[in-house]
Amino acid sequence: MVRKPRETFGSRMGMLLAMAGSAIGLGNIWRFPYMMGKNGGAAFILLYVIMLVVLCLPVMVSEYLIGRRGESNPFSSFDRLAPGSKWRWIGFLAVLASACILSFYCVVGGWSVKYLADSCILAFSDEGDYALSFGSFISNPWKPLLYTLIFLALTGAIIVFGVRKGIERMSKVMITMLFVIIVMVVVRSLTLPGAIEGVKYMFVPDFTKVTADTCIAAMGQAFFSLSIGCGTILTYASYVKKDENILASSAWVSFFDTMFAIIAGLAIIPAVYAIAYMNGVEPDVSAGPGLVFITLPGVFSQMPLGNLAAILFFLALLLAAVTSAISLMEVVVAFIIEEMHRSRKKAVALCFLVCGVVGAFCSLSFGPLAGFKLFGLSVFDFFDYITSNIMLPLGGLLLAVFAGWRLRRANFLDELTNSGKLRIPRWLSLTIYYLVKLVAPIGILLIFLNTFFS
Ligand code: PFF
Repeated sequence: MVRKPRETFGSRMGMLLAMAGSAIGLGNIWRFPYMMGKNGGAAFILLYVIMLVVLCLPVMVSEYLIGRRGESNPFSSFDRLAPGSKWRWIGFLAVLASACILSFYCVVGGWSVKYLADSCILAFSDEGDYALSFGSFISNPWKPLLYTLIFLALTGAIIVFGVRKGIERMSKVMITMLFVIIVMVVVRSLTLPGAIEGVKYMFVPDFTKVTADTCIAAMGQAFFSLSIGCGTILTYASYVKKDENILASSAWVSFFDTMFAIIAGLAIIPAVYAIAYMNGVEPDVSAGPGLVFITLPGVFSQMPLGNLAAILFFLALLLAAVTSAISLMEVVVAFIIEEMHRSRKKAVALCFLVCGVVGAFCSLSFGPLAGFKLFGLSVFDFFDYITSNIMLPLGGLLLAVFAGWRLRRANFLDELTNSGKLRIPRWLSLTIYYLVKLVAPIGILLIFLNTFFS
C-alpha cells in the first residue's frame, strides 16, 4: 500500500511550543499547587525534580525516539519498529490511556470555561460562598455536562484543522498568551501584603510530610504534568522532522513545564496566604482540587484589581487546558485515521462522541452518580487515579523497556544523535541510554512496589 506523506510541524519553535502546550496544562495550574500543598511544599518540589531527571526525562526521550522513528500513531509505531510483535498492543494501551485522560480532563476543562464566563460577568463578589456555589455547580446534572461538551467541541474544532494549521498554529498563539497572562497574575499575587509567607511556604521544605505515598504522588504528578506514558509525545514526535535534537527538545520541554508549574504556584499560593492573613484565618493551600475553584475566587473577590486578575487567571487556565487536550485528542484521532482509515473529520467526531459519553459519567460522578463507586472511588477519581498513578508510569516503564531493550543500542544511539550529525558527547548519550535501559525502569518498578507494599 502506498503511504501518503505525513504532515509535519512547520518549524522547530512550533514543534516545541506544541509539546510544551501539551505538557503545560491543568496539571500545572490545578493539580501541582494542591499536590504540593498536601505533600510538604518544597520537599515535594525537590522530590518532583529528582523524579523528573531520573525517571521522566529518559521516558520522554524514549517516547520521542519511538515516535520519530516509527512515524506513526502509537500502535503502528511499535509495529514498525518490532513488526508483528505484541508490542503494538502497548501502543494501543497508550491510545486508550489518552482517551481515558481526555474524558476526565474535559470535565475540569469545562469548569474552567464556566469560571471564565463567570469572571467576565463579574460574578465573584465579597459576600460569595464559593465552596457552596462550586459544590452546587458541579453536582448539577446538566450545567457541568454542557460546559464539558463545549470544551470538548473547542478541542475538536482545533484538531480538525490538522497538525500545522490546527495544533501548531493554536499552540503558538495560546502558549505565548498564557505566559504573558500568568506573569501578570504572579505580579499581582506577589505584591499583596503578606504574600511573602506563601513564597516561604513554597520554598522551605517540610520533610515530615514525605512518605511512600508522596513518592508515588510525585511520580504520578511528574508523568501527568509532562504528558508522558500515553503516546502524546510519541504522536507529536511522529510529526517531527528528522533533524531535530531529541535530547535538547525533551530537556527543554521538561524545563519549561517545571518552571511553569512553579510560576503557577507563585500565582496562587502567595495570594491565598495574603488574603487569609488579611482575614485573620489560617491559609489552606491543601484544599484539594477546590483550591483553584473555591479558594481563588474568594481571593480574587477581595483583592484590588481582583476582577481583572480573575478573568486573566481563568483565561490562562482554559488556554493551558485546551493545548493539553488537543494533544490527547490527537493521539486518538491519529489512531482512528491511520488504523481505521477514517477522515480527520470523522475521527474527531468519533473521539468527541466516545470521550463525551465517558466524560459525562465523570461529570455526573460529582452529582447524581456520586454514590456509584469503582474500587471505592468515584468515576472521576477512578479515572484520575488509574491514569496518573498506574497507566502513565506503567506506559512509561514499557516505553523505556522497549527503547532500552528491544531497539538495538546502535539504533538507539543513531536516533539520539541523528546518525552522528549532532555533536552529543559519547558519555552523555551513553548516560541517557543507561538511564533508559536500567535506571528508569527499575526506579518506576521500585516506586510501584513500595506503594503496593506500604
Ligand atoms: N500534561 C497535562 C497537564 O499537565 O495538564 C495533562 C496531560 C496531557 C497528561 C497529555 C497526559 C497527556 F498525555
